[in-house]
Amino acid sequence: MPQPMQHTQAPWTPARWRDQPAAQLPAYDDPAALAAVEERLAQSLPLVLASEVRTLDQQLAEVATGRAFLLQGGDCAESFTDCTDRAITDTFRVLLQMAVVLTFAAACPVVKVGRMAGQFAKPRSAPTETRAGLTLPSYRGDIVNGLDFSAEARRPDPRRQLRAYAQSAATLNLLRALAQGGFADLHRVQQWNLDFLRASPQGARYRDLADRISETLAFMRACRLDAATDAQVRQVNFYTSHEALLLGYEQALTRRDPLSGAWYAGSAHFLWIGERTRQLDGAHVEFMRGITNPIGLKLGPGADPDTLLRLLDVLNPDDRPGRLTLISRMGADKISTVLPPLIRAVRSEGRAVIWSCDPMHGNTQETRNGYKTRPFGRILEEVRQFFAIHRAEGSYPGGLHFELTGQDVTECLGGAQAITEQGLADRYHTPCDPRLNASQSLELAFLIAEMLKDSRSAAGAAPLITCEESR
Ligand code: PEP
Ligand code: CO
Repeated sequence: MPQPMQHTQAPWTPARWRDQPAAQLPAYDDPAALAAVEERLAQSLPLVLASEVRTLDQQLAEVATGRAFLLQGGDCAESFTDCTDRAITDTFRVLLQMAVVLTFAAACPVVKVGRMAGQFAKPRSAPTETRAGLTLPSYRGDIVNGLDFSAEARRPDPRRQLRAYAQSAATLNLLRALAQGGFADLHRVQQWNLDFLRASPQGARYRDLADRISETLAFMRACRLDAATDAQVRQVNFYTSHEALLLGYEQALTRRDPLSGAWYAGSAHFLWIGERTRQLDGAHVEFMRGITNPIGLKLGPGADPDTLLRLLDVLNPDDRPGRLTLISRMGADKISTVLPPLIRAVRSEGRAVIWSCDPMHGNTQETRNGYKTRPFGRILEEVRQFFAIHRAEGSYPGGLHFELTGQDVTECLGGAQAITEQGLADRYHTPCDPRLNASQSLELAFLIAEMLKDSRSAAGAAPLITCEESR
């Protein structure tokens, strides 16, 4: 039996997680092939730089202290077959639109983090799936096996990790070009409106807001005020993130920063620990405690205050603001009982965390015609309660975490488009969990912007959000 880890005594190395029990890792049947892949990855270039990670860290420290807001979103699972420049650009664009709506309404900088360029590995509730009497391994994301229900596709194949690495590099290359090469210039705020949105109420509302931003920019130019903020207006900082599930892959891309001597995960700027892999003495917590990147921790309806405080001790012993984002994902019907004791426990210990809300994973339902879906109303309800609970507890609701796409899919029920159970079949493309489409995402951003505004005015002289307007 593996022994509980003495986290404080043992020196950390990127490989130490291998001594601990690991949940959710695939059973590869060819250890030599797996080792060869990991060796190749270890000799490959990291995808992100420590210096970029440090910039994100500083921005997240601003979130932790209530001076900025975190917006994180993207696919549940990226796929090898759906990777087009159009799909990536559209998701990037809808995140920019949401960020601009939130920035403008709440006068608050928004830190933008995609679930992109590496979000491939999926935890599953059951290790196998049975159809018509045939039992095969569950699909665990394109980095592990294939979605097709055949023995060949479902066999975990380590070589898929090399393809995931290459696709992540290409995606990141496009994202960097989009963020810095002119597309994200705030002067083009009108052009971010997606074609299929233009005729919708969300599109029209966005156009109005974009007009006001364009007027402001013209005014600043007329006053010769634009030079000082030129870089902030013409470029955005955009960061990548994914669940750190496949630890062999993560280990292989972890590097020691020659400047500081600290270890950094090189696969993305931000990694998070999933709800199913946050065991205190498990391999995932052991790996994540040693990397210097900012990290997230998902907290489901079973999270309890004592375990959370012990996890904080292990994952953020120095209490670095911005290091740890707690992502609650309890469901609209459970958040009001589960979240308040967690907030109180963290406060009573005076710990610095970012509180973010994932309103997707606690609100998943199966429909009558076999599609996994999430009702827009339940998603909004969990967000609404998240803001209300934090207001009542006097803590800062610092971020949101969504599964979304810029494409016009039909995966979540409702919203202004009123997607019905029958309508789900029209354009249901996700290989894993249902995502908000562009229209639903933008609608949500406008509704959340109202909540942010309300939070500020309700707080009167001591607004919850006290930041200057900037990007
Ligand atoms: C996810 O974010 O896709 C996920 C699996 O979340 P959770 O760990 O919260 O279930
Ligand atoms: Co998901």
